Amino acid sequence: MVHMTVNKNRVGVIGAGAMGSAMTRGFLKAGLVQPQDLIASDPRDDLLQELKKSTSVNITSDNTAVVQRSQVIIIAVKPGLVENVLKEIAPFTTPEHLVVSVAAGIRISNLEKHLPPGVPVIRVMPNVPALIGEGMTALALGSKAGKDDQETVEVFFSALGKVLTLQESDLDAVTGVSGCGPAYMAVILEALADGGVKMGLSRQVALQLAVQTMIGTAKMIQVTAEHPASLKDRVCSPGGSTISGVHVLENGGLRGLLISAVETSTKRSGELQ
Ligand SMILES: NC(=O)c1ccc[n+]([C@@H]2O[C@H](COP(=O)([O-])OP(=O)(O)OC[C@H]3O[C@@H](n4cnc5c(N)ncnc54)[C@H](OP(=O)(O)O)[C@@H]3O)[C@@H](O)[C@H]2O)c1
Repeated sequence: MVHMTVNKNRVGVIGAGAMGSAMTRGFLKAGLVQPQDLIASDPRDDLLQELKKSTSVNITSDNTAVVQRSQVIIIAVKPGLVENVLKEIAPFTTPEHLVVSVAAGIRISNLEKHLPPGVPVIRVMPNVPALIGEGMTALALGSKAGKDDQETVEVFFSALGKVLTLQESDLDAVTGVSGCGPAYMAVILEALADGGVKMGLSRQVALQLAVQTMIGTAKMIQVTAEHPASLKDRVCSPGGSTISGVHVLENGGLRGLLISAVETSTKRSGELQ
């Protein structure tokens, strides 16, 4: 449960897909907003009905109704649709609103350009584990967003995991590490389990071992703040099986591969903007 307070507690979510409904559920679960103070819009009635049934929030197919009823407006449509949505809501948006975009790759200058002058904007980059409350979100403030706006968004996104406030220029590298990272981690998990299967374990057992090992190691480093190299050193006993395996990873260039993957996905993210 988040203990900070937010000064804006009427929330509108435009786009009730995977991220929009995850945010809705996360904010409600954390008690940051009451169902009657949250309104979600989407062209898909089935999605809206399902959201209303499970959360009792207000629903509408009219994005302008969201703006008229909310203080914080969260844009959670696919990046290619953001410009249209902004054009639609701009006539109803005022500097008293706070506009938050989770759309990957849409720059703050682009968001601000389509809104009236003075409207505070915050760009947010969450990742997939936000859907289960274990996300890593980075946010960057627009030119009109103040400390209060920052705090409001930090508190809201803390309901979906960890939050960092950075400069917008960092967001491509954030995409490279935490945005694309879940795919890299999934590949590593699958391969680790494949190793177990090769050595005779069932797929189910091998995957369970791999998943809990990744969770446990990551949590241990998070909780103790121990440097990863130090943890690795402690696990590698002289002449033992772990250092033999680490030798294979080093020969295969695992570190260099991961660094190159982040470098490439960071560059690609920049190209997409
Ligand atoms: N999913 C993630 O883990 C993740 C992570 C980081 C960032 N994001 C960002 O979050 C945004 C949403 O992604 P998503 O994965 O949640 O996509 P999604 O599941 O497709 O959800 C988007 C929803 O917006 C609806 N929509 C389309 N046009 C609309 C309009 N004019 N007004 C209101 N709603 C509209 C879509 O309806 P239709 O299906 O009928 O088009 C859909 O239900 C994207 O910009 C993405 O970059 C997502």
